[in-house]
Parts: sequence; C-alpha cells; structure tokens
Amino acid sequence: MVVLGIDIGGSGMKGALVDSVTGEMLSKRHRIPTPPSRKPKEMAKVVKEIVDHFNHKGPIGIGFPTVIKKGICKSTGNLHKKWLGVNAQELFSNATGLPVTVINDADAAGYATMNYGSGKGKMGLVMMITIGTGLGSGAFYDGELIPNIELGHIPYKKFMKIESWASAAAKEREDLSYDKWGKRFNVFLGLVELLTAPDLIILGGGTSKKYDQFKHRITIETPVIPAELRNEAGIIGAAAAAMHKAPKDFVVEYPITETKVK
Ligand code: BGC
Repeated sequence: MVVLGIDIGGSGMKGALVDSVTGEMLSKRHRIPTPPSRKPKEMAKVVKEIVDHFNHKGPIGIGFPTVIKKGICKSTGNLHKKWLGVNAQELFSNATGLPVTVINDADAAGYATMNYGSGKGKMGLVMMITIGTGLGSGAFYDGELIPNIELGHIPYKKFMKIESWASAAAKEREDLSYDKWGKRFNVFLGLVELLTAPDLIILGGGTSKKYDQFKHRITIETPVIPAELRNEAGIIGAAAAAMHKAPKDFVVEYPITETKVK
C-alpha cells in the first residue's frame, strides 16, 4: 500500500511516498519550511501542499512534534501554543480530504527504526532519540512502542527543558562546534540513562548524520548507535504506523478534552 509519510518539525515539513509493508521510500523527499508562525491553520495548508505535490489520493501518516493522544495535541513542544488541545488528525484530514493518522514524531522515527532499521529485533528497552529543533524520544520495550515519552523536557539548570540547551537548534543558535555541543548532548544522554536505564540508544534526526563528529564526547555506558535510516525515519515510520498496529494509545477510552481551531 502506498502511504504518504509526513514528518513535521519545527523548521521543516517533509513528505515522501512510502511502501507501508516494506518501509521503502518510493519517491524523493519533498520539504517545505515550517511556517514561521507555527500555527495550526498555516501548517495545515503546508500539509495540503505536500499532498498536492505528490498528487496523493490515499492514506497519510504524520509524525508530529507534540504529545499526541487519539490525534489530539496534548502539549505544544516548539510549536505555537494554539496547538494545545487541537485534534491534529482531524485538522489535517479536513485540509486534505484524506484519511490521516498522527503520532508523535520521535515515536514515528522509532517505529521505522525498530521495524526496518538498526533497531530491528532488538529486545529490552530501546530509546530512539531524535536531534532537531527539539530532542525527541521514542521508547520501545521488546519492540512495542510506549508512546509519548518526553525526555527532551527534563528540566536542566535554569532551563525549563533540557532541549533548549542541548538540541540541534541550541547548537545552531549558539554557533557551537560539534565538540562543544557533543559535550552537552552527552549530559542529556546521561540523564536519559539515569532515568530510564535503556539497553540501547539509537540516534536519529538530521544531526545524527554527523555522529562521527561528536561520538568522542559520548561517554555513557549504554550503547549508542546512529539510526541507519537517519533523517528518513520520521517519514517512513509515520507512513508505516498509519497502516500497521496503531500505538496502544489509540484505544484508550478515557475522556480527552479538545480545542477547536478558529
Ligand atoms: C516535543 C516532542 C518532540 C520533540 C522532537 C519536543 O519539543 O515536545 O514531542 O518529539 O520536540 O520534535
């Protein structure tokens, strides 16, 4: 089945056609910068533009950079605060006229890595960490997703969340070398290790391509490897998760409040 996978981040919105069974990318990636407002309506328009670019008429899987429960944003991450409580699944579905499944972006990247990449067959607790505008985390126990784990939100020193200090955006903002930034990232991984005791950490997101330039700074005990699928994992995972087993989270039945986009 051909599914359009879209990976939405704080700086770019990237889509590609994916074979949801093999996880193979069937087209080139199409990237549109995230609208600077990072507001729901503007971002929904870009999703529609990506769909039109591929002239896609089938299902869509979207990795989204907030906590997502039953399609609803339960946090705002690095996006506009208007996203809180918005049913992103419904918003994107209305904008495109197509069936849409939305999950957290790091969960999506992890989903691809665990099914088609370096995480395949890995048991125990595997933590996918994506390095981008924020620091995303996707947790898998014996291959099963534990959705919406937010390790980038660990408070650190004067920062409300450690990602403000140790993400790729912080590296860029402060013009840090990979060596300097790698030291910070290692502090973050140290906290991840202390709090979750993972068996394996897999790094994804654009910056993971440069692993060779900061791996000398990674001194934690847990094995750390870059994801083979690197930057593509978010797109592939979103598409695949849309068609395969939905995260358990989708079947919870407790009430979830929703906000309407005006
Ligand atoms: C968000 C996460 C997201 C991560 C990576 C964080 O700011 O809170 O939900 O996975 O950024 O995009």
